[in-house]
Amino acid sequence: MNQQPPVIVTNNDGVVRLGLNRAEKKNAITVEMYGLLAAGIAQAEADPTVRAILIHGTADCFTAGNDLKDFLGSPPAEADSPVAQFLQAISTATKPLVAAVTGPAIGIGTTLLLHCDMVFAGAGATLQLPFVNLGLCPEAGSSYLLPQLIGHQRAAELLLLGKPFSAETACAYGLVNRVLPDGEVLDAAVECCQELAALPPSALRETKRLMKQFATPTVTKTMQAEMAAFAQRLKSPEAREAMTAFFERRPPDFSSFE
Ligand code: COA
Repeated sequence: MNQQPPVIVTNNDGVVRLGLNRAEKKNAITVEMYGLLAAGIAQAEADPTVRAILIHGTADCFTAGNDLKDFLGSPPAEADSPVAQFLQAISTATKPLVAAVTGPAIGIGTTLLLHCDMVFAGAGATLQLPFVNLGLCPEAGSSYLLPQLIGHQRAAELLLLGKPFSAETACAYGLVNRVLPDGEVLDAAVECCQELAALPPSALRETKRLMKQFATPTVTKTMQAEMAAFAQRLKSPEAREAMTAFFERRPPDFSSFE
């Protein structure tokens, strides 16, 4: 039995690591986990000895995205919900954010990468944005950030069809810095964080601030609009059918919806 918390936070040599640790549910992120992630980032931001933040999953899975039972049972409602706190934390972090992605990175598992400064992915990683497929809509600022990064048509393909795509495609699109053999990804990401940790910290923060200064207000507004739309979508019969079908291990049937 897994006795450790579902997010393992460590702080060593100037690097805070946030390790998703719910392998038995493919690291699906619960409300509790969003709270732990947000707190881990807040702790890293407040501690002057911390120079970089690393987010990773377990060896064979980054994350299967938001916990779908939570979506059905306790959908995020308040503006200061743990999900909202996490999104605020990753979109406004002043210190470099690095991700190590192995295995599936679904939903928020892909959209959180849009807020990272460096992303390392395993050759076997698969990314996916199945929001429409779940009767939902994009979140985490992705409806703005993804087309900005990769162009409207590519973003539309990924967001409207919601099919999985490879680390190689993600790298070609500019969403991933480097594709490595799966077993080397975490070490490479740690090494990158250590390199960042040795650099002048205020110059790093200033550079990140300058790169993001014009996008950040738009991202904040986009996230507010997405959250309102997402909350409505979660109540929709389409979303209920899609998520019920997932847990019943059957294909969803949207034929009766208009
Ligand atoms: N929320 C809640 N539980 C989830 C989950 C999620 N997002 N993703 C996986 N799980 C659970 C499964 O219900 C299963 O639980 P069980 O063992 O109690 O039945 C367990 O994790 C293992 O998942 P399973 O589907 O059997 O593993 P797999 O290797 O066949 O497939 C995935 C892995 C990630 C491809 C698949 O689980 C998946 O597509 N998950 C949903 C992804 C998703 O739609 N996320 C939301 C994005 S907004």
